[in-house]
Amino acid sequence: MLKRYTAGARLYDVLSGERLVYRVGRVAGIDALQPGRGDIVLDLGCGTGLNLPLLLDRVGAEGHVIGLDRSPSMLAVARDRVRRNGWANVSLLEADVLLLDPAEITSIALREGGRPRVDAAFSSYAMSVFDDWMPAWELLRSVARPGARAGIVDMALPTGAAAVFAPLARLACAAGGADITARPWRAPEREAANAEHTVLRGGHIHVVTGTLP
Ligand SMILES: C[S@@+](CC[C@H](N)C(=O)[O-])C[C@H]1O[C@@H](n2cnc3c(N)ncnc32)[C@H](O)[C@@H]1O
Repeated sequence: MLKRYTAGARLYDVLSGERLVYRVGRVAGIDALQPGRGDIVLDLGCGTGLNLPLLLDRVGAEGHVIGLDRSPSMLAVARDRVRRNGWANVSLLEADVLLLDPAEITSIALREGGRPRVDAAFSSYAMSVFDDWMPAWELLRSVARPGARAGIVDMALPTGAAAVFAPLARLACAAGGADITARPWRAPEREAANAEHTVLRGGHIHVVTGTLP
């Protein structure tokens, strides 16, 4: 799995169907997440950092974004993006979300934002790629402050008239190593207050956001 995000990292932004299919999901997800100015936001499985400009727009120079990914190659692209844009308020952490000690995140939050918990946590098209998304959700919960916002954007098979695109969706998910049946947004649906669920691209993209207790 790691190999997939090593060789393909430099081409990910072009070949992942970002413009045609997936950008709409991250935009909707971050709009619904509504991170506020000055917030510390965690992006789990941040990849090449496609969420960074959208998140930084929200948190402003006084906020901070922590991106975590286990692929050094994907993070190298994210680091280039940070450097090119001169962003000073991004931390990129190379780690396997399933093995990580949450203290690594809380210490970055404390160092960069002056408090140990994050105000919002987000994951786009990544939970379904993790070998098991539930421990990743538990990590997210453990580093989020009470009342934090949480958002998950992920994929499922298209339905209704869009079901004709199911083979394409299957192919895209298989290429990215995603389990199209994972439905990780069930966690915020179950645990977050006022969870909002938006379905895009004929059922292929699900966006769930809410406020953690
Ligand atoms: C399909 S990409 C999504 C990247 C980004 N979130 C986006 O919206 O474009 C999935 C990412 O999850 C990362 N990933 C997979 N398993 C992981 C794990 N156990 N821990 C951390 N990152 C992981 C991969 O390296 C890859 O960058």
